[in-house]
Amino acid sequence: MTEPTTSDKKPFLYIVVCASGVAGSVGKLITAAQEADWDVGVVATPQGLGFIDAEAVEAQTGYPIRCAWRAPGDPRPLPPADAIAVAPATFNTINKWAAGISDTLALGILCEAYGMGIPTVALPYLNSAQAAHPAYRQSLDRLRGMGVLIGSGEPHRPRAGGAAERFRWEEALELLEPLVGTAR
Ligand SMILES: Cc1cc2nc3c(=O)[nH]c(=O)nc-3n(C[C@H](O)[C@H](O)[C@H](O)COP(=O)(O)O)c2cc1C
Repeated sequence: MTEPTTSDKKPFLYIVVCASGVAGSVGKLITAAQEADWDVGVVATPQGLGFIDAEAVEAQTGYPIRCAWRAPGDPRPLPPADAIAVAPATFNTINKWAAGISDTLALGILCEAYGMGIPTVALPYLNSAQAAHPAYRQSLDRLRGMGVLIGSGEPHRPRAGGAAERFRWEEALELLEPLVGTAR
């Protein structure tokens, strides 16, 4: 029997899921990433966990969803990330990430990803009233300065129905491709 070599190992993508109304469709991105030959693990914010079908996500990825820090001495539930996609990225998490706040596991992973050189992309999903806050543009500028690629989706009108159907999950993979293409 041939032992798997390092080159047989698929790259590992963390999908960081925040508490947005569109989060329940994260299975679309998991499917697309697996079809593009990624292994996938999901990290949800504590609020985000309430927006997804955890059982379905775990069955799809084959890994437990991470939401909180493990206890000292416990094994790591996920392999290290080769890349990270924050999708959907909320107003709250974008601003806290840019400010260096690390009070959820998701934020802790994102804040460290910069120093560890892990390619990271984010697909914001928020409304125009949230986006009008001056902190939001500053946060995006800071994240871009850190090398984070930001999706092209524009904020939707507050309480606009139908905006979720237009969320382009696959853009996360399109943005990652040039960042990780040569490493895969
Ligand atoms: C039904 C519902 C939908 C929401 N959708 C969004 C959203 O699309 N974008 C956003 O930034 N916040 C949204 N929020 C507000 C966030 O859930 C809230 O700011 C939360 O604290 C974000 O937590 P997180 O960034 O840790 O995931 C929504 C809240 C509710 C109750």
